[in-house]
Amino acid sequence: MAVIAVTKERRAGETRVAAVPETVKKLVAAGFTVTVETGAGEAASYPDADFVSAGASLAKTAKEAIDKADILFKVRPPEADEIKALKSGAIVVATLNPYMERPTLDALAKAGVTAFAMEFVPRITRAQVMDVLSSQANLAGYRAVIEAAEAYGKVMPMMMTAAGTVAAAKVFIMGVGVAGLQAIATARRLGAVVTATDVRPATKEQVESLGAKFLAVEDEEFKNAQTAGGYAKEMSAEYQAKQAELVSSHIAKQDIVITTALIPGRPAPRLVSAAQVASMKPGSVLVDLAVEQGGNVEGAKLGEVAVTANGVKILGVANLPGRIATDASALYARNLFAFAGLFLNKEGAFAPDYEDEILKAALVTQGGQVVHPNLKG
Ligand code: NAI
Repeated sequence: MAVIAVTKERRAGETRVAAVPETVKKLVAAGFTVTVETGAGEAASYPDADFVSAGASLAKTAKEAIDKADILFKVRPPEADEIKALKSGAIVVATLNPYMERPTLDALAKAGVTAFAMEFVPRITRAQVMDVLSSQANLAGYRAVIEAAEAYGKVMPMMMTAAGTVAAAKVFIMGVGVAGLQAIATARRLGAVVTATDVRPATKEQVESLGAKFLAVEDEEFKNAQTAGGYAKEMSAEYQAKQAELVSSHIAKQDIVITTALIPGRPAPRLVSAAQVASMKPGSVLVDLAVEQGGNVEGAKLGEVAVTANGVKILGVANLPGRIATDASALYARNLFAFAGLFLNKEGAFAPDYEDEILKAALVTQGGQVVHPNLKG
């Protein structure tokens, strides 16, 4: 039966791991053999011994783990030495950041690897259990509020004390996809007064159902802003100008702004200008979840807290799910376990059906070529 390798993530700050003892146990029960590189789960609080108890064998190095593997599970794209260690025809399953890391895709193709980008798993009902964007964005949305609360010098809920009343924090969420919805829910649980905006009309009801107030330019373009896949379209310059005007006076009154706006395959839309940041009160906090895709907030710096001249903090936290690595790994690992199920036929034998709708959508390299339609040419 097929051998799955799980190696330690090597990117700076990457604390997650692509399998956890629970999923190793299930993979072994499904007939896979699993090899885990020593220390792969350490940063996510999964000790080697637990992987062994779950049925994995340990490999001292990434090379040793990968050498005999038919499948490599990763969180981030494999490094050059890992690609080198893969046998031709081996499968890689990872978040490959396909639009931003073309050289890795080319290297995978050149090595004859069959690579799947988990970001491309379609948003159909059958694939929900494999949706890494959702599982990780949900945690990122939660964590963004925790980071904001930590950086904010005041409290979130209204407090009536003997020494006087403290006002509730005003929190504005820009972009209400999976991360934004969880940010709304988390900020509400902490007692903040929450407002939110998005360009997709479907979000209005979702925002209101979570007890927050919706704010958006609801024109004709807004009515058509959602693609068939459920994502946002890139909005026109005219719409963006109207949007900026609408939110300007609102932003000036906010204590915390959390931005999560993304457009697949495009740089993140710029939603907050330096002038809008400057209009906020000293001590206010912005968290830019899109900072790795270019940022929604002018002045946000990846991996840094930028403090403006007027004392506003812009948090450009990289890899928010990595700050809650135990849960983030567990959910990601379950996504990959479900995906690996697609490699088995009805009898449970290892025989990937490349005509399967989900495998087809996520496949980025095969037979020496970059094959995904969005990435050709
Ligand atoms: P995303 O991460 O691509 O983008 C985040 C949010 O930013 C989106 O709500 C988007 O509309 C918004 N946005 C983009 N440009 C904007 C702008 N200029 N101003 C304000 N907001 C802007 O989105 P995510 O979180 O992946 O969710 C996209 C949709 O997919 C949602 O409707 C979600 O409910 C849906 N979904 C469906 C699933 C399924 O059917 N299996 C699973 C997960 C999500």
